[in-house]
Amino acid sequence: MSETSRELIVSKIRNGTVIDHIPAGTALQVLNILGITGREGYRVALVMNVESSKLGRKDIVKVENRELKPEEVNKIALIAPTATINIIRDYRVVRKVKVKLQDVIEGIIKCPNPNCISNLPREPIKPKFRVVSRNPIKLKCVYCGRYITGDDIARQLH
Ligand code: CTP
Ligand code: ZN
Repeated sequence: MSETSRELIVSKIRNGTVIDHIPAGTALQVLNILGITGREGYRVALVMNVESSKLGRKDIVKVENRELKPEEVNKIALIAPTATINIIRDYRVVRKVKVKLQDVIEGIIKCPNPNCISNLPREPIKPKFRVVSRNPIKLKCVYCGRYITGDDIARQLH
């Protein structure tokens, strides 16, 4: 059961996407990844720190009239690896997918080492990281061995 067992904190949406089971406190980062400012004119609901049987506390983001691109889902997996994406059509959940954090992250995050070969101009090398820890998240550059963690990853995902 999502949200609380007694009542919904925000109403159900008609069409759009519900991103559920977001680690508590990271919903704003999810909105950032999606580039949602609120000025788009569609209804957006942000629920933070509600009870969850699986996570203790969690955040939820509901966006009307918006579905997510695969690259957006991949970015969300980096900061909210527990998230579930629910596609809503005519009030019903028509698709539910758990985001998946791959073992290797390619082309999304830049290496923080300016001398890394993946940062050199004219080198056709995409940045590539191995996931060395998931909770808390820690990535290691395949080329230079530099590590990048939570907040530094989140800062790049805007
Ligand atoms: N939801 C919504 N609007 C709808 C349908 C669902 O906002 N028209 C929200 C629900 O409130 C919930 C999420 O989408 O936060 C997933 O809905 P559902 O699959 O019905 O809930 P659960 O079975 O509790 O989900 P899970 O098993 O993923 O925890
Ligand atoms: Zn590197």
